[in-house]
Amino acid sequence: MRLVVTGGAGFIGANFVRTVVRDHPDAHLTVLDSMTYAANSASLADLPADRVEVVEADCADQAVTDGLVAGLTGPRDAVVHFAAESHNDNSLAAPWPFVHSNIVGTYAILEACRRHDVRLHHVSTDEVYGDLELDDPAKFTPETAYNPSSPYSATKAGSDMLVRAWVRSFGLRATISNCSNNYGPYQHVEKFIPRQITNLLTGRRPRLYGSGANVRDWIHVHDHNAAVLRILERGELGRTYLVGADGERSNLQVMQMICELMGAGDGGDDPGFDHVTDRPGHDLRYAIDASRTREELGWEPRYTDLREGLRQTIDWYRHHPDWWEPVKARVEARYAQTERVL
Ligand code: NAD
Ligand code: DAU
Repeated sequence: MRLVVTGGAGFIGANFVRTVVRDHPDAHLTVLDSMTYAANSASLADLPADRVEVVEADCADQAVTDGLVAGLTGPRDAVVHFAAESHNDNSLAAPWPFVHSNIVGTYAILEACRRHDVRLHHVSTDEVYGDLELDDPAKFTPETAYNPSSPYSATKAGSDMLVRAWVRSFGLRATISNCSNNYGPYQHVEKFIPRQITNLLTGRRPRLYGSGANVRDWIHVHDHNAAVLRILERGELGRTYLVGADGERSNLQVMQMICELMGAGDGGDDPGFDHVTDRPGHDLRYAIDASRTREELGWEPRYTDLREGLRQTIDWYRHHPDWWEPVKARVEARYAQTERVL
């Protein structure tokens, strides 16, 4: 099995590559990654060079993409497309890289797969569906209308639409997954959970946007990647699969759990974190109904205890300072330009 994994040096992609190397001894992987600020070559450094080849290039570069995809000739070969600009806060400050990587990049991947008749799995997000009220009994399903809020989610929605059009118009052999918020090892410290953990590890105070009432539906990255592998193996071509682990928590609840696990706060007036200025256009709540993915593909999340998953993730960051320390100060300096304690 040969896989081209775009964005394989980022958070979810690197975890995917590591899992495939461990569990599929017959697999050879080519990582296509432009090594943006979000990539970390250290996430792949210990993997065997004869199994994992890293090509540093832009997936929107049609010649490079064509060349790599042309080598996928076996019946189980595929492109797994993780590459994207992925952080909402950055998309509010500078949207263009999101249009380039998420839309033009996906276009180039689609064209390469079409020319060479190669199977594609496109990794997308629940944010394409917009947000839900806190008390809405409904969750997102594959039929929910697209209603993205930020430049990030709008470009991901655009990329999904391109994939659907290539399936229908050109018969492309493709599937899509829309997953909720991931956490786990190798996640960039700009994101909510690793930011708070590494703030505490470096003597900084954690930062909660607004009141912290916003709800995210957390899933461990290993559960997400197990679903992606299951879709590659058993997914029906042309289908969209929703991936989530019924992990809804408010940001305040997650923050309190992290502070408790790491011994922050005095148990009295000081909760151990600061409330800061909210994100403009901040989506209120995401919630995934993954029942069809579970029933049809037999996939089940294994990390069902968020507190235990967070404890393991905290341990990982505690034991891997070399992985995140080099970028921590720069990330915090950037946040400090706009963030004010309330
Ligand atoms: P990430 O930002 O950690 O990694 C993205 C990777 O893509 C980086 O290595 C980056 O260098 C690479 N990349 C960006 N633009 C590129 C380009 N033009 N060409 C080649 N490589 C490029 O992101 P992540 O959190 O690992 O997310 C991976 C995918 O999963 C994204 O498509 C994202 O939309 C989706 N997703 C993420 C989450 C989440 O909670 N993080 C949830 C659902 C879906
Ligand atoms: O739902 C899936 C999406 O989840 C993915 O598509 C995105 O790629 C991924 O980044 C994530 O988007 P969010 O915007 O939800 O993730 P983020 O980690 O940036 O923030 C999670 C929540 O925490 C959100 O409500 C904003 C809040 N937040 C974030 C940061 C960085 C804080 O309260 N404080 C913070 O310091």
